[in-house]
Amino acid sequence: MLKKTVLKALNAQINAEFFSAYMYLGMSAWCEDRNLPGFAAWMRKQFEEEQKHALKIFDYVLEQNEAVSLPPIAQPPAVYKSLQEIWEETYAHEQHVTSLIHKVYALAMKEQDFATQGLMQWYVTEQVEEEQQASAILEQVKMVGTNSSAIFFLDRHVSKSRGE
Ligand SMILES: [Fe+2]
Ligand SMILES: [Fe+2]
Repeated sequence: MLKKTVLKALNAQINAEFFSAYMYLGMSAWCEDRNLPGFAAWMRKQFEEEQKHALKIFDYVLEQNEAVSLPPIAQPPAVYKSLQEIWEETYAHEQHVTSLIHKVYALAMKEQDFATQGLMQWYVTEQVEEEQQASAILEQVKMVGTNSSAIFFLDRHVSKSRGE
């Protein structure tokens, strides 16, 4: 059993995680289209990760015998100016998601919902890693700039950095 406010926030977070998945899938297509298979693979893996994030909350809501609502997932951008813009967007998006997670956590605290706080703690920790990864790769992308041979090597390196 969950408080109505908490249930609403959790359902919104399921949608936000699916939107993240969708956004990364779009970025994966953009990278694939520009012959950047390493970045495309990274983004596709992230698409899978974000779906797992959504499903973890989905399962929790069901475990609490509450109803999941699955409203439409907003359309993500399909056009990016550059690889750097993709990584700027990624980093900004993860920072935004962190703020959403913190709001859900704060609400669970206010409502004295200890189980939801436990669930959200996992996301708080996960977001630290997600932001760190995004900012590290953004810095590398900035470093190589438009040097095509450096981009080629970074593309290979980035997929290996995820163990693929
Ligand atoms: Fe996520
Ligand atoms: Fe994420």
